[in-house]
Amino acid sequence: MIDGHTQLFGIIGDPVEHSLSPAMHNAALAHLGLNGVYVPMRPADLAEAFHGLRSLGFVGVSVTVPFKVAIMDLLDAIDPVARKIGAVNTLVFERTGTAVRCTGHNTDWLGSNRALAEVIDPAGRTVLLVGAGGAARAVGFGLIEAGAQILLTNRTEAKGRHLAGQLGCPFIPATDLAGIRADALINTTSAGMAPHIEAMPIAPELLPHFPVVMDIVYAPLETRLLREATARGCRAIDGLTMLQYQGAAQFTLWTGREAPHPAMRQALLAALHGRHS
Ligand code: ATR
Repeated sequence: MIDGHTQLFGIIGDPVEHSLSPAMHNAALAHLGLNGVYVPMRPADLAEAFHGLRSLGFVGVSVTVPFKVAIMDLLDAIDPVARKIGAVNTLVFERTGTAVRCTGHNTDWLGSNRALAEVIDPAGRTVLLVGAGGAARAVGFGLIEAGAQILLTNRTEAKGRHLAGQLGCPFIPATDLAGIRADALINTTSAGMAPHIEAMPIAPELLPHFPVVMDIVYAPLETRLLREATARGCRAIDGLTMLQYQGAAQFTLWTGREAPHPAMRQALLAALHGRHS
């Protein structure tokens, strides 16, 4: 029940109406019996919205596209890994008397590391990172934090070489992938996302070179990449797992509580199914 003590959480993005985060976080709050509510918000003006969140007493806010970079200029402090990634997806507001301090974090890399760690410990492993956008940056810097060796490939070579330079890892052109072996492959591109469900980020015949294949695309839940990988004996990690664990890390930052993982996963699955019906 919402009352005078209800704590405020939410997500800012544009568009934001299809976000699965409200379902996931409200389920977590309810599961633990915490008096809080998590709402989707679409700011007309980012700076004005941020000052509103600050003065209205919000405890924690998720940040999604297109605000993950622009929000950084407004914050009091930024977590060192979020600064390396160059994007913030989580705001934590701390209040002492009338003073408010807002710190920016990035939990995307925590989510991808934890999702991967369900199947293999990334430390000392070689991972082929596919993609060179914002998601690849977060996953890539996360892999470095976890002690993995990265190989990076991307459809557009210049963009791939640029990110590889920043990550300090080799760039592998798409034409040279046949000779590459790694302990895992992570797709950070949107290839395979509905409605282009037949698109593949890598040729299917190369998949046996990667015993573990993780996708960050979660709609559909079983992407063609994961289906082709499973058919060739690889272990598959779906995109909802990373989404769930990045949300779990946010939840812990805001509440200090371990996230109720099964409740969050169940809420995500229900919201994903609801979205397509
Ligand atoms: P995000 O911030 O979500 O990562 P982005 O910055 O637009 O999104 O990056 C999208 C990534 O997906 C890029 O690496 C893009 O490759 P290009 O650099 O060649 O554009 C990749 N991508 C998107 N669609 C793809 C497809 N059908 N096949 C291969 N790569 C694709």
